[in-house]
Amino acid sequence: MKKLLIAACLISASAVCGQNIRIQTSETELILRVGESGRLYQPHLGKKLSNESDLDLLPQGREAYLTHGLEDYYLPGLRLTHNDGNPSLLLEYVSHEVRAIEGGATETIVRLKDPEYPVEVALVYTAYAAENVIKSRAEIIHGEKKPVTLHNYASSVLHFDAAKYYLTEFSGDWAHEVNMSETRLDFGKKTLDSKLGSRANMFCSPMFVLSLDSPRQERSGEVVLGTLGWTGNFSFTFEVDHTGGLRIISGINPEASEYTIARGERFTTPELIFTYSAEGVGRASRNIHSWARRHTLKNGLGDRSTLLNNWEATYFDFDEDKLAGIMDDAVTLGVDMFLLDDGWFGNKYPRSSDTQGLGDWDETASKLPGGIGKLVETATGKGVRFGLWIEPEMVNPKSELYEKHLDWVIRLPNREEYYFRNQLVLDLSNPEVQDYVFGIVDRLMTENPGIAYFKWDCNSPITNIYSTYLADRQSHLYIDFVHGLYNVLERVKARYPDLPMMLCSGGGGRTDYKALEYFTEFWPSDNTDPLERIFIQWGYSHFFPSKAMCAHVTSWNKNTSVKFRTDVAMMCKLGFDIMIHELSEAELQFCKDAVANFDRLKPVILDGDQYRLVSPYDGQHTAIMYTAGTDKAVVFAYDMNPRYGEMLRPVKLEGLDAQKMYRIEEINMMPGAHPSVRMNGRTVSGEWLMTRGLELFSTSRARSVVVELTAQ
Ligand code: GLA
Repeated sequence: MKKLLIAACLISASAVCGQNIRIQTSETELILRVGESGRLYQPHLGKKLSNESDLDLLPQGREAYLTHGLEDYYLPGLRLTHNDGNPSLLLEYVSHEVRAIEGGATETIVRLKDPEYPVEVALVYTAYAAENVIKSRAEIIHGEKKPVTLHNYASSVLHFDAAKYYLTEFSGDWAHEVNMSETRLDFGKKTLDSKLGSRANMFCSPMFVLSLDSPRQERSGEVVLGTLGWTGNFSFTFEVDHTGGLRIISGINPEASEYTIARGERFTTPELIFTYSAEGVGRASRNIHSWARRHTLKNGLGDRSTLLNNWEATYFDFDEDKLAGIMDDAVTLGVDMFLLDDGWFGNKYPRSSDTQGLGDWDETASKLPGGIGKLVETATGKGVRFGLWIEPEMVNPKSELYEKHLDWVIRLPNREEYYFRNQLVLDLSNPEVQDYVFGIVDRLMTENPGIAYFKWDCNSPITNIYSTYLADRQSHLYIDFVHGLYNVLERVKARYPDLPMMLCSGGGGRTDYKALEYFTEFWPSDNTDPLERIFIQWGYSHFFPSKAMCAHVTSWNKNTSVKFRTDVAMMCKLGFDIMIHELSEAELQFCKDAVANFDRLKPVILDGDQYRLVSPYDGQHTAIMYTAGTDKAVVFAYDMNPRYGEMLRPVKLEGLDAQKMYRIEEINMMPGAHPSVRMNGRTVSGEWLMTRGLELFSTSRARSVVVELTAQ
């Protein structure tokens, strides 16, 4: 029987030998080809090839999904041990199918199989034509009698052949996330990864820019942007071999995560999401932005609320009266919502600091006698919505939850506990814990249906790694934790499909597109100093649209004006976290006007196309603009710390229609201030604005201008 099956596979493979499998978007394509050996190769990844006859000229390329134990000597995509101890895997083409799926996308499934062992791999590619984005994952299944152990299990292996490769990474730490640095890749490996578990992206976000032949440029050159949809340990390995070929192996970080699958059990990897652009990184980012809004972000095409948060204004020190006062401030500002942060729960161990109470989600009676219900009622009475902070995956050892359910906590039974921010992570691999975490949201919503928003935080990486529930499968914990989290988030989304939620993880500790299927936006950093935020928002903008990023006006860096802080926050989803009574009358009026401007311009800033015009990494000035079609645009320009006597250049705009005339109007001005943009009030052609540009910069420190352009 087995022999017959092998023969059938070979016939099927030889029948299609040389056949190209074309995975296409409107401008990009990935071509896979079945070789004479019956194995699958990657002859092309890049610009879409329009002449069918040219395909014959393509070389076979490298094996598409490399396995361990055969003739390849570099890092494989898949390595496993069969139930008889054999460590090798050979994958031959069996069949493929292509079908149209929702959202104008095409799904291509290529099925591969080992001729000697009943192991099957399906490579699944989803191509979004309009946005030029491709997603790629692998599914592994076997029919061996005993379990098979997976050691490496990449989502994707991609090959490139260029004269030079440049890699941009986005690394940092708490309060200084996503610093961009570019390195040339020569022979050998460079890996970007994380093994932090829950707060997985604290040191490095799961995203990379690969630039071919020359360093990354905004408006020209071939680039690939890749990001992994996985809310846990990830890994990207870039390996240049002795022939100068580059392979990128992306997926879950297999470190300390050998995974055993039983017969018939399917192991599905997360998806690598990538886009290719021959017009530089700006175009590639816009591809991902529109893909995210249309296909991934929770309520990606919907509206977003402005808000006033109390975290930096009060920290843990508040009561009902103080909160009611801040709700009044929200009304004064004209924002849509009040967001209550950390510090509202716990009775045996009230959450009066970050050392206790986490896990006990009952309102602190001494602090909030009327509970969340009263606060929702107060906010609603004042005409603002009510949002609430939770951190449901975590526990302080000083809590009732810890006392009752030690077995729900990820902790080593025989070692002293080590804490990150005085807390431990709950074991979401355990279905009982999943029920408990879902129950926190469900109870709050059932008792207080008026809650209009959650800020879902996650402040600790997984430490003391051991799960009572997983017993002899400890190496599954990093992966099963994430699947447990998805089970919970899936249930929340199913029951509350319209509930907006902010993804937060001590700032930007969680920033991936799988999580963002469940969240409307994320908190990029606890650092809200506008000079720092310029860099942080610039970094994230390579992968995330402004709509997905929250930015709040706070009191960090009071050396900068309220206008400067607001102008920086207004490039993303605007919010405030500031004591309104500390503002002067003029500043308050300015903030109210800015909220009104933001509400009016949301379709441009949050849903438009973003153009990064001048990089803050290149000097002391930066500018970004947004366009909605070619009729409306908003330009933000900032002077950071310019040198005396510096030569200033006009900023050339992008994305306009050269033939149209645009009226230039400076907005977001302090009451009584005179416009500082020289051409304010004039009507100028799109051609002029794009070829000669606007004079927007000055030699003042921390100064900003915002300009609205309207086609006449
Ligand atoms: C994290 C978040 C902050 C705030 C605090 C509350 O640090 O990033 O925004 O919510 O937790 O403890």
